[in-house]
Amino acid sequence: MAEEIRHPFLHGLSKHRGSPPTVVVIFGASGDLTARKLIPAIYNLAHDGLLPADFFLIGFGRKAIPDAEFQQVAADAIKEFSRREMSPEVWARLAPRTLYVSGGYDEKAAFDRLGARITGLEKEIGQQLQSLFYISTPPTVFAPIIQNLGASGLAARYLRQAHQSKVIIEKPFGRDLASAQALNRELTTFFVESQVFRIDHYLGKETVQDLLVQRFANAIFEPIWNRNFIDHVQITVAEQVGVEARAGYYEQSGCLRDMIQNHTMQLLALTAMEPPVSMDAESVRDEKVKVLKAIHPLRLQGGGRLSDVARAQYGDGVIGGKAVKGYRQEPGVSPVSATETYAALRFTINNWRWHGVPFYLRSGKHLARRVSEIAIRFKHTPGNLFGGGERSQIAPNTLAFQIQPDEGLSLILNAKIPGLETRTQPVKMNFKYATTFGSNTPEAYERLVLDAMIGDGTLFIRGDETERSWQLITPIHEFWAEQGSAGLDTYASGSWGPASGDALLAANGHAWREP
Ligand code: BG6
Repeated sequence: MAEEIRHPFLHGLSKHRGSPPTVVVIFGASGDLTARKLIPAIYNLAHDGLLPADFFLIGFGRKAIPDAEFQQVAADAIKEFSRREMSPEVWARLAPRTLYVSGGYDEKAAFDRLGARITGLEKEIGQQLQSLFYISTPPTVFAPIIQNLGASGLAARYLRQAHQSKVIIEKPFGRDLASAQALNRELTTFFVESQVFRIDHYLGKETVQDLLVQRFANAIFEPIWNRNFIDHVQITVAEQVGVEARAGYYEQSGCLRDMIQNHTMQLLALTAMEPPVSMDAESVRDEKVKVLKAIHPLRLQGGGRLSDVARAQYGDGVIGGKAVKGYRQEPGVSPVSATETYAALRFTINNWRWHGVPFYLRSGKHLARRVSEIAIRFKHTPGNLFGGGERSQIAPNTLAFQIQPDEGLSLILNAKIPGLETRTQPVKMNFKYATTFGSNTPEAYERLVLDAMIGDGTLFIRGDETERSWQLITPIHEFWAEQGSAGLDTYASGSWGPASGDALLAANGHAWREP
């Protein structure tokens, strides 16, 4: 019988995916992401027995508070945001391991104090600890944190061993190609690439991981996954929420930086990449970089049919039956803001698999519904054996990966309507995650924090990958900056976006499907 590993925090996890004793240090401990996502993720990992027996969490922030106060902050965050109710037993184990160190991000002495605290913990447990530094601060302090992790020796702890220090870095990873390159240089001054985990939480979503399984664990897809059978691909990441309380960030970011450069480009890369030779981090990321390199530079001049991009801002409208105001009236937004809340792009990929197949991407806030999906639209059948017209509709086959909500996979086929005549109708075959597997699936951050602890970078973005993505996106920002507000459209809140977004597809005789 296989040897079983049993200790308080580790059961149900394959032996090969166990993490060494670890301390997770969160920079930006009082931030929104920490409360909403990171602490609940760590709690749920503890709940599922996926943390190592020797596990510690250290919050690091400017405010000087005792451990007990941070423990209270953590408990409140779990109660409010965890997908599960807080179990007193699980929390009783985690609470005394939840600690706090205060200091400035540019204060080397504070990092020395952090190092001393970690060494103290090692002495207490009589074991070496892997340090996982989670940088969840505004990007202005990324550089000082990285430099001080280097200067204090924390970055180089146990270097090149399995429990070497690791760093997770939150978005935004730069705001253009030059700043992303600078950030990569900063990181690689103090860390080697295997220590760096650039996060894109979309990669942690179950359905995004399932895309790889669907593509590469089913024999039926690969033979038709190419220009011979696929007409075009539509990737939609639509949100119903507006900018909410984040105008300060969003005014500097806009939809292209906030959603397209990272989340939707990742969905494109996973959809279009070649089969990797294995599922290890380097093989998967090599293929993603390769396909990103094959993307043709976008056409920006000329507008209308000749442009591959559209941008717009939400105006007044109705969402969920309630009248809402346009973006420029949101608190903290400039009344003359040229920040886009919607962007649509048309990519072409210059390789044997995809030549001539457009990939359309769109994302926006205050759209009709919250829905993220990848729709693969297949070619029409040659001729029409069944007459067509109103009584006999034939739709092109469409395979749609529902990323969220209603996670699943659907396929549109054409079927005969029962009766004495041959009439046809498109029908939908549906696989729903919730029906098959239940609905309490782990949150993206649970998987990603665990993977980083284990040292598995498959679901993280490599340095060259982020740079290639910025290389494609930065010329759009430069073009828009030259244009100012000219060419910025408006769409009604609660709609599916501006006419210019539809025109990108119409130019090729296509239309967005209503997800
Ligand atoms: C974040 C963006 O990366 O993703 C937000 O900064 C956006 O603006 C969010 O709302 C969407 O994530 P999800 O997981 O809710 O689709």
